[in-house]
Amino acid sequence: MILVTGGAGFIGANFVLDWLHDIGEPVVNLDKLTYAGNLESLASIASDSRHVFVRGDIGDSALLAELLARHKPRAIINFAAESHVDRSIHGPGEFMQTNVVGTFQLLEAVRSYWSDLPDAERSAFRFLHVSTDEVYGSLGPADLAFTENSRYEPNSPYSASKAASDHLVRAWHHTYGLPVLTCNCSNNYGPYQFPEKLIPLVIQNALQGKSLPVYGDGRQVRDWLYVGDHCGAIRRVLEAGRPGDTYNVGGSCEKPNIEIVQTVCGLLDELRPDAAGPHARLVTHVADRPGHDRRYAIDARKIERELGWRPAETFETGIRKTVQWYLDNQAWAANVTSGAYRDWIESNYGGRA
Ligand code: NAD
Ligand code: DAU
Repeated sequence: MILVTGGAGFIGANFVLDWLHDIGEPVVNLDKLTYAGNLESLASIASDSRHVFVRGDIGDSALLAELLARHKPRAIINFAAESHVDRSIHGPGEFMQTNVVGTFQLLEAVRSYWSDLPDAERSAFRFLHVSTDEVYGSLGPADLAFTENSRYEPNSPYSASKAASDHLVRAWHHTYGLPVLTCNCSNNYGPYQFPEKLIPLVIQNALQGKSLPVYGDGRQVRDWLYVGDHCGAIRRVLEAGRPGDTYNVGGSCEKPNIEIVQTVCGLLDELRPDAAGPHARLVTHVADRPGHDRRYAIDARKIERELGWRPAETFETGIRKTVQWYLDNQAWAANVTSGAYRDWIESNYGGRA
């Protein structure tokens, strides 16, 4: 079996659902259930015996040792993180705790488990760390896209914490020989993304007739990838990636934020017209994010060339699916934003051993 951390979050939940559907190997899913973790995203596998959910922290060494000894995973995929740049600006502490200290504790627990494995299992074992293109900093309009050799120049507390975690993962390979793999991916979008991130926030606000906040001039560029394609890349790297290597993952799909917002508004005009007028009337430019990175772009030629991975979705197909998913899953969105879901989690888990 494999052990996934952060598998109740956006990308982790998509990964677990796709994994069980397409591969079927059992999964232990360790997630702290922060505000971003949501068991409702895993409701379709609630009674699937191949999925073992454990509420817990990647920084809890005793819990990790117990889980590793009990389940004996052949691989670990580390999604667990604080992931929102704006939250990292308002309160960087949790980002350092989970992304840096938590990754360190996880690596130590895994190293201890891995060191004691029999030879064949030891060499087949993999630790895959899910990271971000933000570690490379910001590009100018004419700069070439980030490669695996680009310099680390993180600019936000979030990206600095992810850069630190990448360095730890690298060091545990070079010093201890732990068979690690790292994926540095661009902006994901798709089902189950918490509505604090641009695309789901715009969908939810537009449906409620609220303003659509665009930071600064809205000309900042991100490279968008459908979440299912990111999950496919992680699977491929896990299967065939070279231990110690990093792989950049991206959609070759650079778009300015304002264009993303307008595209979402156009799709909502078509799929859920508003009698008050086009949804784009709600666009409101607001003060910029401090230290806002201007442009990200990923050069994904290494994973394409060496592992034969390519995204299956275009932005047009992926964003249409995504908008339709939010329209079809308004109960999910209402629960994660109302706090009712958090209350339920507390009452269900609070008194349990
Ligand atoms: P998310 O915020 O939606 O989910 C994070 C999950 O981790 C949540 O379920 C949360 O409960 C869990 N978690 C947080 N702290 C934990 C801890 N200490 N112990 C155990 N679980 C904990 O994030 P996401 O968007 O799904 O991102 C997943 C990973 O992918 C992150 O490492 C992120 O840096 C990386 N990434 C995200 C994107 C993106 O566009 N969203 C792009 C590239 C890389
Ligand atoms: O590049 C990968 C990264 O993408 C991941 O590592 C992060 O975990 C993920 O959150 C994402 O970071 P961004 O900061 O790029 O994503 P976000 O959705 O927060 O913002 C996307 C762009 O939209 C960014 O330029 C800021 C802008 N924005 C965002 C929000 C929430 C707005 O203009 N208005 C908003 O209200």
